[in-house]
Amino acid sequence: MKTTEDSVVLRDGRALTIRSILPEHAETYRAYMMALADESPWSGTMAHEVKDVDALKERFEKDRENAGAWGVGAFDDNMQLIADCSWNSIPYDKFRHVATLGIGILKPWRGVGLGRSLMDRAIAAARESEVVQKIELGVFSENTIARSLYDSLGFSIEGSRKRAIRQPDGQYCDDVVMGLWVGNELE
Ligand SMILES: CC(C)(COP(=O)(O)OP(=O)(O)OC[C@H]1O[C@@H](n2cnc3c(N)ncnc32)[C@H](O)[C@@H]1OP(=O)(O)O)[C@@H](O)C(=O)NCCC(=O)NCCS
Repeated sequence: MKTTEDSVVLRDGRALTIRSILPEHAETYRAYMMALADESPWSGTMAHEVKDVDALKERFEKDRENAGAWGVGAFDDNMQLIADCSWNSIPYDKFRHVATLGIGILKPWRGVGLGRSLMDRAIAAARESEVVQKIELGVFSENTIARSLYDSLGFSIEGSRKRAIRQPDGQYCDDVVMGLWVGNELE
């Protein structure tokens, strides 16, 4: 993974640093993931399922060596992570050209352009990648904001896994599978 660092100014004037997530960010990444899991019904991970700091360090160390991995975090002025966006290519030869993408942003930072900015970066990195030709993601059927973002970026719906998600209150959601081809056009 190529490491990067730059910044973004959001529509409300706030600025954030966007940088690759490295092993030294494991603690703030964990705190961010747990906060997102507690607050957003659209997080696929529950707070008690977030990996411990050592496991996260190991993951980010491996990602650093992996040409099929890409990920950035958005850091506030205190160097606390408030959002992330990443993709990982599927680790089997016949599927390696497909990367699965995830994105999350803490509530106070939503709705001011950060999601689109992170997705633009993820797509640009995939287009530059020598490994990845397609991005896939799963989105909870009721998550209309995320779905409209993906749709506006050219992702198309490839299917729907009926009642694949069961929320803690017992409600079921479908998992909508969306994909975007980022490789060269095929004959
Ligand atoms: C989904 C998510 C990543 C979008 O990021 P965001 O920073 O809030 O979105 P942006 O401000 O960049 O807006 C992008 C698009 O989303 C849609 N959108 C954003 N806020 C919206 C709102 N309140 N109502 C309707 N649509 C909205 C619009 O289509 C918008 O397009 P625009 O850029 O032309 O305005 C973010 O809201 C989030 O993390 N939500 C919780 C976790 C989650 O859903 N993760 C995705 C799991 S698949």
